[in-house]
Amino acid sequence: MKIGVFDSGLGGLTIVKTMLENLHGADIIYIADTANAPYGEKTQKQIIDFSAKITQYFIDKFHIDALVIACNTATSAAIKELRVKYKNLIIIGTEPGLKPAISHSQSKKVGVLATPATLNGEKYKLLRDELSRQYKVDIFEQACPGLVQQIENGELDTPKTISMLQNWLSSMREAGVDAIVLGCTHYPLVGESIKKVMHNDINLIETSHAITKRVNELCNNSMKCDNENSLKILSTGKISGSMVEMILGKKYEVEHINI
Ligand code: DGL
Repeated sequence: MKIGVFDSGLGGLTIVKTMLENLHGADIIYIADTANAPYGEKTQKQIIDFSAKITQYFIDKFHIDALVIACNTATSAAIKELRVKYKNLIIIGTEPGLKPAISHSQSKKVGVLATPATLNGEKYKLLRDELSRQYKVDIFEQACPGLVQQIENGELDTPKTISMLQNWLSSMREAGVDAIVLGCTHYPLVGESIKKVMHNDINLIETSHAITKRVNELCNNSMKCDNENSLKILSTGKISGSMVEMILGKKYEVEHINI
């Protein structure tokens, strides 16, 4: 079973890590599209274009059986178009875990951190409006421009990153938010810093286990349980090898590609 996974950079590796820990017999090829990052500050048309080119590359070079869009921003902008264009491909997307956050929240005050493109996307707005009506919950949204670059640079808890988080999170803390949706796959990497700024008393919701479960449901028949997983990492631009190693707990060669 060949599974193509992509994101604008390191973030999607937080999903790959959970996939490697829980799947069997999966050959994973990961593309970090760092030449075009950050996606969250691009137009929908640009994000559709990046996503379609990567999908075509996966099909041409690796004959993938399934695609995991390990990026909330690309899922929001492009999954519909990709499903129309690649009808025979299993396509699994990543969406902000608003529903699990609501069920984890006692105060019924839930924060959502995501890229500007995800928060402005139609898909997210529909989900938010439906769930806030259904569950009578206050939702505090915060776009975090610049945070993806901090993470790509390995600045997970530097004074600049902490100060950005303090600015974004202070109103949530004062309002009594007790669950925060990490609506970008990069953000679990600053989870500890978010907890520190929120004074630890917070549920952070990410979706890597839900995605892995979905991959298992859709691809299980083609994966042999006794086989090892494999992972190949490709990048369209610069990427930090030490961050890759930190996220996956092991050194990987990263091959440069042009798409
Ligand atoms: N990690 C991505 C996401 O989940 C995209 C971050 C970006 O490139 O802006 O939204």
